[in-house]
Amino acid sequence: MVLPDDPKYALKKVEEIREMVDNDLGFQQAPLMCYSRTKTLLFISNDKKVIGCLIAEHIQWGYRVIEEKVPEVSSENEKVIFERQKAWCCSTSPEPAICGISRIWVFSMMRRKKIASRMIECLRSNFIYGSYLSKEEIAFSDPTPDGKLFATQYCGTGQFLVYNFLNGQHQTLLP
Ligand code: COA
Repeated sequence: MVLPDDPKYALKKVEEIREMVDNDLGFQQAPLMCYSRTKTLLFISNDKKVIGCLIAEHIQWGYRVIEEKVPEVSSENEKVIFERQKAWCCSTSPEPAICGISRIWVFSMMRRKKIASRMIECLRSNFIYGSYLSKEEIAFSDPTPDGKLFATQYCGTGQFLVYNFLNGQHQTLLP
C-alpha cells in the first residue's frame, strides 16, 4: 500500500502506474477528490512486476445501480454479452458510503485469478485503521463493463454503489 506521505520515489512509481492504468481504461478518468487521503494498493507478482493496482479515496455518498433484468432464456455467454453492451443506470438518491474505488486494474494476462478480489479484501481491512469495511460502504467510480461484471460478482448483487458518474463531476455536495 502506498500512502501520500510515502517517499517520493514510491509516489512517482504510483503516478506512472496510474497513467498506464488510465491509458488502458481508455477514457478520461475522474480526477482524485483529495490526493492527500488517497490509498494505492499494488499487487506485485513473484517476479516483482506490478500486475494489479487499486486506487481508493474517501467519499461520502454512493448511488445504487438500478438492475436491468437479463432476458431469461439467455445462456451464461449471452448474459455476459448483454451485460457488456447495455448502459447502466443508477438511483439519484445518495446513500452514505466511505470508500470510493477510483481505479481497479489487473494486467490482462492475469485476469480471472481473483487478484482484484484479493486487492479489495486487502483494501477493506486497511482503508480505515482498526475497522473492516462492509461491501455496502464501498462504491465504484463510473464502472467499465469489466468493472460492472466484477463488482456484481464481488458484491453479490448488481445493485452495488457507484459514484463519479455525471461527466466525471463529483457528487459530494449532495444531499
Ligand atoms: N467478465 C465476467 N465476469 C467477470 C469479469 C469479466 N471480465 N471479471 C471478473 N468477473 C467476475 C467473475 O465472476 C470472477 O470470478 P470467476 O473468475 O471465478 O468467474 C469474479 O468477478 C472475480 O474476479 P477477479 O478474478 O477477482 O477479477 P480480476 O482480477 O480479473 O479483475 C478487473 C477484474 C475488472 C479489475 C479486470 O478485468 C480489469 O483490470 N479490467 C480492465 C480495467 C477495468 O475495466 N477496471 C474496472 C474499472 S471500474
